[in-house]
Amino acid sequence: MLELKDLYFSVTETNGTNGGRKRDIIGGINFTFEPGKFYAITGPNGSGKTTLAKLIMGIHRASAGEIRFNGNDITGLTITERARAGIAFGFQQPARFKGITFRDLLSMATGIEDEAKLLDLLRRVGICSLSFLDKAVDAKLSGGEIKKIELATTIARNPKLAIYDEPDTGIDLWTIGPMVNLLKREQIEHHTTTIVISHNRAFLRAADVVLMVNLGKFAYVGNLDGALPMLADLSVCNFKPCREGDENAQCFR
Ligand SMILES: Nc1ncnc2c1ncn2[C@@H]1O[C@H](COP(=O)(O)OP(=O)(O)O)[C@@H](O)[C@H]1O
Ligand SMILES: [Mg+2]
Repeated sequence: MLELKDLYFSVTETNGTNGGRKRDIIGGINFTFEPGKFYAITGPNGSGKTTLAKLIMGIHRASAGEIRFNGNDITGLTITERARAGIAFGFQQPARFKGITFRDLLSMATGIEDEAKLLDLLRRVGICSLSFLDKAVDAKLSGGEIKKIELATTIARNPKLAIYDEPDTGIDLWTIGPMVNLLKREQIEHHTTTIVISHNRAFLRAADVVLMVNLGKFAYVGNLDGALPMLADLSVCNFKPCREGDENAQCFR
């Protein structure tokens, strides 16, 4: 179980009309993610989704509030300590490395060297080619291939909690269905609490709970049907004139 208690991430604006002002990118989130459930987080660009994922993984430190994982306060833990506690993060833009093969990368990420176990991991992400292990993880890989590698290194750790930030970025439409199925299977077979940040309806439909972030808060928590009117609204800008004492940078002066 992952508990977010009055969680804030605040920065000081460096430029523009709001320069020098404090801005809450995450503005007081309270939420409990239940074990083994599938959550989809969606919301407008810049609403704070990636920042929230980075706070959970420990890439960013909370300005205020608390993060608890399976009963323990992890707010002060490093990324490595959180990874050891069973939290894994799939990046929106996975790294590419010159001169490293998929076998090297997977072994480094998981400590597994046994060929049969590595091939089993390939199978889990839907790669049915034996030669893939010795492919270079470089600029020549397609967006879909690099994403599968990212998924393989994440699920290989058998995390208790897996967070994927827009795993469908750069993926063709035909790959999204199998990717949703893969993450659902991991959720069900390994009881992985799964949080996927995505705008894709296939992920939103697969989720037990849809969360919509707006201006650093959960503006909606519920099923997809209830979220649909708000999703339709996402294409509309929500800039508002600033009021007295308003510290929100999304308002104009
Ligand atoms: N470390 C930071 N310092 C200042 N601003 C940041 C920082 N990280 C993110 N932001 C800003 O916070 C907002 C939310 O960013 P992000 O969480 O990446 O949004 P999303 O993933 O929902 O598109 C954006 O306006 C972004 O520019
Ligand atoms: Mg993002």
